[in-house]
Order: sequence, then structure tokens, then C-alpha cells
Amino acid sequence: LCIALIAGGVSGERQVSLNGAAGVEKALDPDKFDVKRYDPATDLPRLAADAANIDFAFILLHGLYGEDGTMQGFLDLLQIPYQGAGVLGSAIAMDKHLAKELYRLYGLPVADWELVTKGDSFDADSLEARFGVPVVIKPVREGSSLGLTIARSKQELVDGIEKALVHDSQVMVEKYIEGREITVGVLGNDDPVGLPVIEIIPGEEFEFFDYNAKYKPGASEEICPADISEQLRDLVQGYGVEAHKALRLKGYSRTDMIIGNDGNVYLLETNTIPGMTETSLMPQAAAEYGLAFPQFLEKLIELGLE
Ligand code: DAL
Ligand code: MG
Repeated sequence: LCIALIAGGVSGERQVSLNGAAGVEKALDPDKFDVKRYDPATDLPRLAADAANIDFAFILLHGLYGEDGTMQGFLDLLQIPYQGAGVLGSAIAMDKHLAKELYRLYGLPVADWELVTKGDSFDADSLEARFGVPVVIKPVREGSSLGLTIARSKQELVDGIEKALVHDSQVMVEKYIEGREITVGVLGNDDPVGLPVIEIIPGEEFEFFDYNAKYKPGASEEICPADISEQLRDLVQGYGVEAHKALRLKGYSRTDMIIGNDGNVYLLETNTIPGMTETSLMPQAAAEYGLAFPQFLEKLIELGLE
């Protein structure tokens, strides 16, 4: 099978993508796969020109122009199959605001939030009154916690909105949920299954699971399977599967959630191209499920060809 491994790109998560691609390239069995690399930052014309000779594309792009449906649409036009969600699901999941609207429509629990749009005035006093502090501020379409602030005062709230608006024209101000951060991988097309749950414990020097806590080796502790009751496990795996279906996803996804100290679970977002370095969360969950990294990649390719 001739595989186009598409990685790099132009989003803030470019380096995360390149790191993941190195591991994926190494893990794909050379007897089965002839892998060619393409970086959308420079190689789109070459990818289009090679299309007739490419059997499958493995998209390892995160964030805008890759995880958001644009690359999926480009590959659809070129008639190249690829792993994971299509145009619609990718676009919806990239937009945390729309994703939360859909979760809510499907009865999935979310923390209260408000949208702030660039150019529109916002009332910091009423935001503070509504959500209190700390409060979470994040760009609507971004990944790896880039542009995210946990504001602890009204001034930090105002600064946080400004910072997030550098990343996107829309920003969410979201109720801060104190609790345990978990993530649930989902695998499958028509009848997807929830993978073992992972709990993430950011190192003490990190306020939350931010960009550095995510990618600095050893900065966070990840516990798989998470030490939670079977009942809670079943509940959050069910939420992961429902989120996958609600957002019209395919193949795989990874939904991040918080188990609040109030005992309730809150869905934060769903990643349609979860981080794929060998130590990333979704590959860890797949390994615990019984699919070592190369087998997990082959499964994603098989699901993408269905
Ligand atoms: N956005 C990063 C890559 C993740 O969700 O794993
Ligand atoms: Mg994300």
C-alpha cells in the first residue's frame, strides 16, 4: 500500500505533528507500506500531482488546516481515502463552541460557557459575575492548550481574552471545573468502542495540563487504566462513544473530560486527530486495549478503507 504520511502543516501544533510523524513512519511495517512524506506547508502541489499513485493518506496534522476538515476535503477531491473523521465531523469537532452545543443537544454534560467574538465588546464584570474566578479562557479552534488561560482575577480575564483572540476570532469563557482530568479514546466506525480511560496528573510545577505539561517528557503522570470505579469507567466510556457519534466522527477520536469534585463529569472537547507520538494518550489507551502501536496504526488504516 502506498501511504502518504501528511505531517507538519501551518498550525501552532506543527511541531507536535512532526514529532508524531517520525514515530508513525518508524512503526509502519516497510514490508506492507511504502510511506511517502508530505508537509502541507510546502508540498500540496506535489501531493496533488502524486494522487493517482497514493492508496491511502495518513493525516497527522493537528489544529487548523489539517484537523479541521480542510485537508480532509482536499483528499476527498483527490479521491484518496484517509483515517478518521471526514470533512463535516472534523470541522465540527475543531470548533469547541459548536462541539459543546452538539454535546448538549445529545444530553452530554458540559460546563457553562459564553462566546466572545473579536471586534465585539464584552463586559468583564458580568463575565466575572457569571463564572467567578478562576475561569477558563480558550480560543474556539486551537489545540494542545495553546492560547489557553486560567484567569484568577478580572484583569487576568481581560488579558486572557486578548491572548486567546490572537489565536482565533472567537474565544470561549468557560466555567472552571475543579477535579480530575481524564481522556477517553474511541475506536471504530459503525459500532465504536471506548478504550481504557486515562487520567492525567500534571506535574506540580504546572497549573494545568498546558502545552509544556503535555510535551515535556516526564512532566505529567498518565495513569492507564485510570483508578476509577467500574461504574464511572462505563459512564465516561459511554460519553466518549456518544460524543463520537454526536459529532459525526469516524474511525477514532479522543474526548477530554473532567471528573468534577462535585461528582459530575464534564466533556471539554473531542480531538479527531489525537496526538500520535508513541507515548501520546491515545496510543497508550490502544496499547492497554491490546493494540500495540503498529497494530493500532494498521487498525486505523483498515477503518479508513472501510
Ligand atoms: N491536540 C493534541 C495533539 C491532542 O489532542 O493530542
Ligand atoms: Mg485538542
